[in-house]
Amino acid sequence: MNQNDMTLVVGGTGKTGRRVVERLQHLGLPFRIGSRAARPAFDWEDRTTWLPSLDGVAKAYVTYYPDLAVPGALETVQSFFGHTVDAGVRKLVLLSGRGEVEAEQAEQALKACGADWTILRCSFFNQNFSENFFLDPIVAGEVALPVGPVAEPFVDVEDVADVAVAALTQPGHSGKLYELTGPRALTFADAIGEIARVTGRDIRYLSITPEDYRAALLQAQVPGNVIELVLYLFGTVLDGRNTPVTDDVRRALGRTSRDFTEYVQRTAASGVWGDGRG
Ligand SMILES: NC(=O)c1ccc[n+]([C@@H]2O[C@H](COP(=O)([O-])OP(=O)(O)OC[C@H]3O[C@@H](n4cnc5c(N)ncnc54)[C@H](OP(=O)(O)O)[C@@H]3O)[C@@H](O)[C@H]2O)c1
Repeated sequence: MNQNDMTLVVGGTGKTGRRVVERLQHLGLPFRIGSRAARPAFDWEDRTTWLPSLDGVAKAYVTYYPDLAVPGALETVQSFFGHTVDAGVRKLVLLSGRGEVEAEQAEQALKACGADWTILRCSFFNQNFSENFFLDPIVAGEVALPVGPVAEPFVDVEDVADVAVAALTQPGHSGKLYELTGPRALTFADAIGEIARVTGRDIRYLSITPEDYRAALLQAQVPGNVIELVLYLFGTVLDGRNTPVTDDVRRALGRTSRDFTEYVQRTAASGVWGDGRG
């Protein structure tokens, strides 16, 4: 095995990163997880951790946490891209957000850094309903969000991971920006309705004001910076700008993207949403 052929997966325990790691492992390719819990540890907030994580690394999948839209993110990722190139990394695949000006600035920084690049500009993930902030409300039977009848083409992170691994391991993806969406756009009410139908549970969707949402998050003791981020994302990204569906999963992989219903059936079978008896 080439000692300088490692792929660093930043956020390698997160929603997309974990799946990228599984695929690299399956292919028998060397990888290193970048996370605060990994050894060596990687921490976006502690730049002394970056170089040890980049030792022997040829390619990296980069997911920034919590979001490229938070203050300071651009400067941090720009600096990280510079560190990767100095360390000899030749290929960078960036997970980006659709409809975020700040994410587009990070994309520009990536394009300018000198490494070979691929950008995955993604819609809201399906897995937010099962591995992130919507899970607890779904289990509780009521999801209240400051989003009206705006349709979002939720994308499955299994597709995001498939495209990331293709970009990391196969030719033909360099210098490409993929806007990854699912095959159809659904409102949040549609999405929750589908989860209720498949699980056989009574789950309500309520569209509430940003003020009421803020009050609910404060009451749940969510940290202030997280509240601001979530309100920004709901208010900015979910204004209809991202409703159009793209064909970029097919452009990258030669097949259609996974449908939301397939995700719901798979996830319901895992039991994570409860079985309706609770
Ligand atoms: N969620 C979506 O719908 C969506 C859509 C489009 C784009 N995105 C983009 O995806 C990115 C990740 O978002 P996500 O919500 O899906 O999260 P995620 O990848 O599930 O995030 C968790 C990962 O980040 C790591 N992490 C957390 N804090 C860290 C730190 N200070 N330093 C290093 N690693 C850290 C965690 O590992 P440790 O805790 O072990 O450190 C874990 O591996 C964001 O940039 C977001 O803009 C998300």
